[in-house]
Amino acid sequence: QIPVWLDCDPGHDDAFAILLTAYHPRIKLLGISTVFGNASLKNTTYNARSLITAIGKEKEISIHVGLDKALERPALHAPTDIHGESGLDGTELLPKPLSEVSPVPAVEAMAAALKAQPAGTAWIVATGAVTNVGALIRKHPELASHVKGFSVMGGAIGGGFTDAPLGVIDGKPRIGNWTPYAEFNILVDPEAASELFSNKELAPKTTLIPLDLTHQVLATAEVRQTLLYGKDEEQTGPGKTKLRTMLVELLYFFAKGYADKFDITEGPPLHDPLAAAAVLVGTPDEIPFYDWDAAKSTAPEHHERFEVTVVTEGTFEEAQVKETGRTIAKELPAGSEGIRI
Ligand code: BDR
Ligand code: CA
Repeated sequence: QIPVWLDCDPGHDDAFAILLTAYHPRIKLLGISTVFGNASLKNTTYNARSLITAIGKEKEISIHVGLDKALERPALHAPTDIHGESGLDGTELLPKPLSEVSPVPAVEAMAAALKAQPAGTAWIVATGAVTNVGALIRKHPELASHVKGFSVMGGAIGGGFTDAPLGVIDGKPRIGNWTPYAEFNILVDPEAASELFSNKELAPKTTLIPLDLTHQVLATAEVRQTLLYGKDEEQTGPGKTKLRTMLVELLYFFAKGYADKFDITEGPPLHDPLAAAAVLVGTPDEIPFYDWDAAKSTAPEHHERFEVTVVTEGTFEEAQVKETGRTIAKELPAGSEGIRI
């Protein structure tokens, strides 16, 4: 099993990253830390507690409270149109959490859990602002060489869009979801992102899962229907359960947000579980390398702004989300499968 620490800000799509890391047979989830972002830290932490209760893992998985603002700037929380007031609006079925948070703060818990794994085995998966991870590496720089990989849902390169899911600016596909160029997770703590992405030890083993990829992994109405009833096309299979209904209600709310805000009617894009799925593929040096210069040249502002140098990328054939009983990660056109930094 692959040891994984999940740092998240639940968040509708974060909920699916929790589900995937908690139940994938090849992943051993070491713990969860929370960060501000889709809502206040208080809310994202409550949501994480409620979600692990909903999936029956509250006794096994500990939740550690992370940072409530960026390393070098105030907190910016997502407006309520995508994730709602709570950060996880859209269902009445979220249970009251059955476990408390751990008294050990996120940075110390991550450090201890990662150091307890043999060198070169554990992954950090971040599906929110990379603030906690930035603080971790500032305090424990040796972990950059100790971990196997760092997978981040964040960023937007622009070169991978086959259409213009976020709209068009100056005749070209709009790149970012919160500003014309910036993706939310990177936007809220660009200093932490820049520090991590330019860390000589960590950068070569970092996988960036940008919007270019995530906007091609849509939880369509058909996918939601499958999630609700299970694999059985006749819908006589496992049938609706409270958990399935809750997950689909969350996806429906998320879909409505994307339809209203971005006019994406096939959605929503299921960003965060892809960062978790990337650990199943491996680190950049385990996959074929690829020249990303063409994509980089289409969005120079993005790269300059966050000093991200995108040099390689690889195939995400295995990076499929199978929780619905079907593969919902689509094959991308050659040359745009994902981005490695
Ligand atoms: C990212 O921001 C949040 O809205 C999602 O949870 C995801 O992590 C997408 O830009
Ligand atoms: Ca998130």
